[in-house]
Amino acid sequence: MFITFEGIDGAGKSTHLAALAQWWRARDREVVLTREPGGTPLAERLREMVLHEAMDPLTESLLVFAARREHLLKVIEPALARGAVVLCDRFTDATFAYQGGGRGFNWAVLAQLETWVQGDRQPDLTFLFDVPPEVAQARRAAVRQPDRFEAQDEAFFARVRQAYEARRQAQPLRFAVVDATAAPDVVGTQVLSLMADRAGVQGVEGAARRGPPLDVPGVAS
Ligand code: TYD
Repeated sequence: MFITFEGIDGAGKSTHLAALAQWWRARDREVVLTREPGGTPLAERLREMVLHEAMDPLTESLLVFAARREHLLKVIEPALARGAVVLCDRFTDATFAYQGGGRGFNWAVLAQLETWVQGDRQPDLTFLFDVPPEVAQARRAAVRQPDRFEAQDEAFFARVRQAYEARRQAQPLRFAVVDATAAPDVVGTQVLSLMADRAGVQGVEGAARRGPPLDVPGVAS
């Protein structure tokens, strides 16, 4: 099962990834906890560039998709193939939200890159931590050294949030929206009960591998 966590910076998603990993491990499942951009040594180097060096939105988009390709081939696809649960802190919805929404980059080009890089692979479940930009900004104020995204203004994050919502509307069944304005323990309970519902529907044991393997014509995988 491939599960992703999304939301604007300051939504507080990272805390709950660890709790969800524990939830699956308690059910005797191998868990691969990873993140984007990143998850392999090469992809982590690309992450450093994307987060800290000025570049135009197409370059930025190409680098996050390059990191994703590497991450899919080396970590995500092999883990799914052996039946592990993959928990990924951000994935392609973040590209549509940040590069598409935040930066205003061409949505159709991103959709082409998505198909090219990942074929039919989509997360089985995406937790979307939803919070108004002003609440997230107040939380981010505690961050001492903001990266290129965290340093953006409220209008940027309003666009990011809207783009996440557009992705959710396009694939409503994939998303579970979490009200991230609540206290952390309340949000945590929400995440685990949503997970239990989904796992119940799919069957915890049988949920291992859904969807075709990564197989992009003309690109060796
Ligand atoms: P984030 O996941 O918030 O990590 P941390 O909690 O360590 O700050 O940071 C990753 C940043 O990268 C975040 O601001 C969103 C941005 N991002 C993109 O712009 N595009 C993408 O495709 C992805 C995956 C992330």
